[in-house]
Amino acid sequence: MGKYYITTPIYYPSDKLHIGHAYCTTVADALARYHRIKGDDTFFLTGSDEHGLKIQRKAAEKGVTPLEYVDGIIANFKLLWKKLNISNDDFIRTSEERHHKVVQNALKKIFEQGDIYKKNYEGLYCVPCESYWLERQLDEKGCCPDCHRPVEKMQEESYFFKMSKYQEWWLDFIDKNPDFIQPESRRNEMINFVKQGLEDLCITRTTFDWGIPVPFDTKHVVYVWFDALLNYLTGIKYGEDEKFFKRFWPADLHLVGKEIVRFHSIIWPIMLHALGVEMPKKIYGHGWLVVDGTKMSKSLGNVVDPLGLIDEFGSDAIRYFLLREINLGNDGNFSRDALIQRTNADLANDLGNLLNRTVAMIIKYHSGEVKNSKQNDAVDNDLINLAQQTVKDYTSQMDNMNITDAVKTVWNLIGKANKYIDETAPWALAKDDTKQAKLQTVMYNLAETLRLVAIMVAPYIPDAAPKIYEQLGLGNEPLQLSDAVWGGLADGTKVVKGDPLYPRTTVDKDGCTVIGGKKYVAGEN
Ligand code: ME8
Ligand code: MG
Repeated sequence: MGKYYITTPIYYPSDKLHIGHAYCTTVADALARYHRIKGDDTFFLTGSDEHGLKIQRKAAEKGVTPLEYVDGIIANFKLLWKKLNISNDDFIRTSEERHHKVVQNALKKIFEQGDIYKKNYEGLYCVPCESYWLERQLDEKGCCPDCHRPVEKMQEESYFFKMSKYQEWWLDFIDKNPDFIQPESRRNEMINFVKQGLEDLCITRTTFDWGIPVPFDTKHVVYVWFDALLNYLTGIKYGEDEKFFKRFWPADLHLVGKEIVRFHSIIWPIMLHALGVEMPKKIYGHGWLVVDGTKMSKSLGNVVDPLGLIDEFGSDAIRYFLLREINLGNDGNFSRDALIQRTNADLANDLGNLLNRTVAMIIKYHSGEVKNSKQNDAVDNDLINLAQQTVKDYTSQMDNMNITDAVKTVWNLIGKANKYIDETAPWALAKDDTKQAKLQTVMYNLAETLRLVAIMVAPYIPDAAPKIYEQLGLGNEPLQLSDAVWGGLADGTKVVKGDPLYPRTTVDKDGCTVIGGKKYVAGEN
């Protein structure tokens, strides 16, 4: 048993949540829950990144304060995480006082040691995109290379963080810690980027005030990333409760989308190094959820609303789909058809039916009571061996973040158990007086397989896992990995008939889904 501190990025307050937002958080949640069933002392942090000019302007348009504007959005985020069964231990908002303190103290320390300096910054600036550009980066008309609108000459007095000073340290650290940035392809990209030369980072602004005031020059506010990244320290009480901080730091994993790996793997370690704080263990850059090959994003208008989707299919189905269909690290396609297909095949059929058939047979043949008569032959031993091997493979795959493989490993066992029913034909054994011990053995093996499955799927489908336990007669015993040892189900345990785990989804002639007798019109939930 160890400890596990995992973070997601803190999200920008976006008034339109989409299923892409849910992806990173779902993966992080599955990992956090896995470490909890393993017995690790776990802390899972997510939150919101609330400062900046864009928010200030939107709030002004609506005639409210920036804080009033973001409050409503954050409430919606929290609702989504709740409905998706996200088990975060805290939710950090950068607008909170506890975070302001951490950022201001960090700035003061770095300033006092000479790593921050003031410079009159002159550059070309695209106001709509809020980014500085160099002459050579502009498009052929001399406009912003991103949005192709005119840029303005801007002159602003800013404070800079001496990143360049730490270039050699960074290259050396990355060289000595080959697993720090993953996957491998992202690591190589980052090394190439830094080798071209690190620039100092502009970390303050004076053109807006919705931000954290710079303690040594209060007409400045801290600019985005320097503020945002420090949330990972605030969340575990850095500078406030040393004991708590040491219990969880260094972070075991910062899970982030691939477009922000650069900030997490270059700026963040250098900030920490300058602060004299130990390095986190790993930065992992996951891929994007795409629709027809393009990133789902609010500005493209191709977003899928996760709240409606959860109401329609249930949170387990969405979680399962994201974990099973998208290979962590790669982009993956989202489609309703694929979601329906997966939910029906893997959840309603494979897992749901296995549980349903097993419990029904134990009730019919043995009044609900299991007994291990150990009349195992080759076909039974095959199942038992696979179950034991599955626990081993699952554990090493989850430890190595091969989540998609781990899911497949468990479903392979579920498939095998369904096949085992056909091979052993309990209905035939039941008619033969000389085969009663054998029938008991078969029922036991099925129930025992399901018990191990319930433990292993608990991080993926936290709604269903305890229901499997309940139907197996294990009440609300905690699901823990140390119990995933074959033979643990006690003789005399009484199974309990329950509702089917997952209803089947059908699509009617109008293309609407029908789930549990209720009809849903796509896009109207
Ligand atoms: O970047 N598929 O916030 P953010 C998968 N505030 N992941 C997606 C996605 C998609 N279609 N769309 C967004 C920020 N994401 C900063 C982070 S951390 C100190 C500051 C992911 O709201 C994205 O990859 O733009 C990122 O990891 C996360 O959502 C937050 O993105
Ligand atoms: Mg983004």
